[in-house]
Amino acid sequence: MATVTIATSPFDDQRPGTSGLRKKVTVFQQAHYLENFVQSIFHALENIQGKTLVIGGDGRFYNEQATQIILKMAAANGFAHAIVGQNGLLSTPAASCIIRKYKAFGGIILSASHNPAGPDGDFGIKYNVSNGGPAPENITDSIFTNTKTLTSYLIVDEDDISLETIGSQSLAGMSIDIIDPVSDYAELMTELFDFEAIKTLISSNDFRMCFDAMHAITGPYAKEILQNRLGAPASSVINGEPLTDFGNGHPDPNLTYAKQLVDIMFGSNPPTIGAASDGDGDRNMILGANFFVTPSDSLAIMAANAHLIPAYKEGLSGIARSMPTSQAPDRVAEKLGIECHETPTGWKFFGNLLDANRATLCGEESFGTGSNHIREKDGLWAVLFWLNILAERQQSVAEIVAEHWQIYGRNYYTRHDYEAIPTDIAQQLMSDLEAKQPELIGKIIAGQTVSYADNFSYTDPVDNSISNHQGLRIGFDNGARIILRLSGTGTEGATLRVYIEAYEDNADKLHQETQTALKPLILAADDLAQITLRTGRTEPTVIT
Ligand code: G1P
Ligand code: ZN
Repeated sequence: MATVTIATSPFDDQRPGTSGLRKKVTVFQQAHYLENFVQSIFHALENIQGKTLVIGGDGRFYNEQATQIILKMAAANGFAHAIVGQNGLLSTPAASCIIRKYKAFGGIILSASHNPAGPDGDFGIKYNVSNGGPAPENITDSIFTNTKTLTSYLIVDEDDISLETIGSQSLAGMSIDIIDPVSDYAELMTELFDFEAIKTLISSNDFRMCFDAMHAITGPYAKEILQNRLGAPASSVINGEPLTDFGNGHPDPNLTYAKQLVDIMFGSNPPTIGAASDGDGDRNMILGANFFVTPSDSLAIMAANAHLIPAYKEGLSGIARSMPTSQAPDRVAEKLGIECHETPTGWKFFGNLLDANRATLCGEESFGTGSNHIREKDGLWAVLFWLNILAERQQSVAEIVAEHWQIYGRNYYTRHDYEAIPTDIAQQLMSDLEAKQPELIGKIIAGQTVSYADNFSYTDPVDNSISNHQGLRIGFDNGARIILRLSGTGTEGATLRVYIEAYEDNADKLHQETQTALKPLILAADDLAQITLRTGRTEPTVIT
C-alpha cells in the first residue's frame, strides 16, 4: 500500500473543547491542520491495528473533503475497516448508534453542532469511543498533548473513494462500507417507542405537528421516521433539505434561532406540537401551541412520564443533569427514589454513569436530552418521547407541563449568553467573581440568603476522576442559583453564560413570565459580576 509519511509541525491551538475541536473552516483548511489533529487522535488510541472506525458528519461545508482525508489516514494508520454514512453524513446520535451496533472501535464525528456553517462558518471534529460516546477527558487531554509535539502524519497516496455509492469498497487494504445514514437509527427508534400509538395520535383529526430540521442533518431522519414510518404528512417537516451552509441559518433550536418555527407555534391556529433539532441532530426544542418547554423541564417531565414509554416502563436507574441545568429533574428523582447526578457541562460526563447503569435519562439545559439507548444526546429521540407521552396522556403539551408544576413546583429558569466578548475581559470577570465568592456566603442578595458560593468540582462516582473549575455557583437557601461559566465551544472571543434559576411552589405563582419572575436574580448577577460595566453590553446576545 502507498503509505506516505508527511512532515508537519505542531499547531498550538488544538485543545479540544466541550465537544471536540471547533474552529473556523478557514482554520481547518490550513495545510496539515486537520491531518495533525487526526494523527493526534490516532496516537492517543491504543491498538488500532485491524479495528473498525465509524466516520460521518452533519453535512456542513468541508464535511466531504475531511471525510476523504480521514479515510486515507485511517487506512495508513492500520484500521482494517471503516463504516461511513453515505456522502459522509451521519447525525451525531446516529453515529453513536452505529458505533454501538457494529461494535466499532470508535468513531470520528465531523460537526460544529449548532454553529453556523459554510466557507466562512465553523467546522469541527471529535472522537467517540467504543461505547458510542464522546472520548473522556484522559483521551482528549492526550490528543491535545500529541498536537503539541507532532512532527509527521501517515496518509495513503490514493484517489478519493466514492462516498455516494452504498456498499463495500476498499482503500489501500482497508475495507469501507458506505451505509444508509438513517436506517439503523430509525430501526433503534422503533424498538424504544410505541410507534402504533404514535401513528394513531398523528392520524387523529385534530393533531398536527411541525418539525423544523433547520436545513441541517435531521431532515432525512425526520422524513423517514415521522413521515414514512409514522404517517405524518409532508407539511410536518420544514427546512428538511440539508444544505452545506444550513441555508445561511444558525441551526440552534432555541427561541431566537428557530424563529420560523416559533412564529408558527405562537401564531394563529398553531399545531399541537412543534420541535426543532440542531446542525448535527443531537439537540431538541419542544414547543406546544403557544407554549415553550424549557429543556430542564422537558427532562423532568420525560423522567416523570418514562413509565409510559415501552423502553423505560421497567423504571429508571437514575437521572443525570449538567450542573447549570435546573434542579427540576432532581425533584422527580427524589419522588421516584432514584439516583440523581449533577455533572459538569458536556455530554462526555454522562458516559460513565450510563455505562454503569447509574443513570437512564440525562439532560442539559442547552436543549440536550438523551438516554442509555446511545451515548450522545438525541434530538429526534426526544421528539418521539414527547409524541409517545402525548399519545398516552391525550393532553396538550401545556396541560402536561402545568400538571407537572402543580405536583413538583416550578423551577423558573433562564440562560443569558454574551457572545464574542474579548477573552481577557471575560477571564478577568470570572476570576474577580471567584475571588469574591467566599465573602458572599451568608449574605442576603436579592432578598435571599447565599448558602454556598464555589467553583464547581465534580468527582466521577464511577472512575473517581476529578474535574475542577466547571463554573462559578452562587446558591441560595431557597434553591435559587446564579451560575456563570465561559463557553467551551465558541470560536470567537469568549462567550459568557449566565444561568439563573428560582424555585416556586406557590400554586398562584406558577404562571409568571420567566424573565419577570427572575428579574431580581438577573439584576443581582449583573451587579455581582459587573457584566454591563466590564463588557459594555447592556443586554445578552441570546436569551434561552
Ligand atoms: C454548549 C452547551 C453544553 C453542550 C455543548 C455541546 O457548551 O452549553 O451544554 O454540551 O454546547 O453541545 P458550552 O459552549 O457551554 O461549553
Ligand atoms: Zn449538536
